[in-house]
Amino acid sequence: MDASAFGKCSYSYEDYRETADWLLANTQLRPKVAIICGSGLGGLADLLENRNVFPYTDIPRFPHSTVEGHAGKLVFGELEGRQCVCMQGRFHFYEGYNIATVTYPVRVFFLLGVETLIVTNAAGGLNSSFNVGDIMLIRDHINMPGFAGQNPLCGHNDERFGVRFPCMSDAYDRELGTMARRTAEEQGCGSFLQQGVYCMLAGPTFETIAECRALQVLGADAVGMSTVPEVVVARHCGMRVLGFSLITNKVVTDYDSQQKANHQEVLQTTEMRAKDLQRLVRHMVGQL
Ligand code: HPA
Repeated sequence: MDASAFGKCSYSYEDYRETADWLLANTQLRPKVAIICGSGLGGLADLLENRNVFPYTDIPRFPHSTVEGHAGKLVFGELEGRQCVCMQGRFHFYEGYNIATVTYPVRVFFLLGVETLIVTNAAGGLNSSFNVGDIMLIRDHINMPGFAGQNPLCGHNDERFGVRFPCMSDAYDRELGTMARRTAEEQGCGSFLQQGVYCMLAGPTFETIAECRALQVLGADAVGMSTVPEVVVARHCGMRVLGFSLITNKVVTDYDSQQKANHQEVLQTTEMRAKDLQRLVRHMVGQL
């Protein structure tokens, strides 16, 4: 990656192809499942067996990670006997990457033959019935950067990836959602599994009280700074998507409250629940 990752607004088919071909030449694994791990949730990649690990810096044309707590490695391996590729560390819009760079890996996954994308993230709880530590199965999203013209599909459409005007009313696979709810029950996560709408804001600021109230009115249950661009690109190229948000904090909606959203609380809750989320994802992969 060079400075162009921060300024350039599109990549050619050949760019993605070059990255995918390099990976195909450097691993024997042919994953059908890709997993993007959210902040502090990269431990999942350590569970993979028969691993091939590629630091992002070694992969031709691949962006690099800048956030602390994000390892920046692409890990191929087997989870519950299924071949997977796992992103340990994702790219955030707030880091300064353009939206095409944020989603670069997803098109590479498509060219590797991936059919299902699993995404995880940390999110603030907007729904007043959610508790810190709940896991929210993402049923739908609100693409707030998209409202503001930051959609990863803006620009020339390459039909080799998908159609010009893709449908998003079925972004999160219903069958996988049903499997996830059943798996959560079986894995002892049923008491803290929620489902709802994830809203992405660009960040890096946490939300004002007025913004949180506005998002609640819009019908969002959780708010975060990631995931949606990757999901849009995955759906464009026909992948099935399953997503989980870990509710790491409750957003502040009351001017009398002394509570303040902070990254420390996000990391602490993530650590508390990471194992549960890993178990849930692992058992989902086993059924794909
Ligand atoms: N807001 C935005 N992003 C987040 C939050 C939040 O409260 N918690 C974790 N990621």
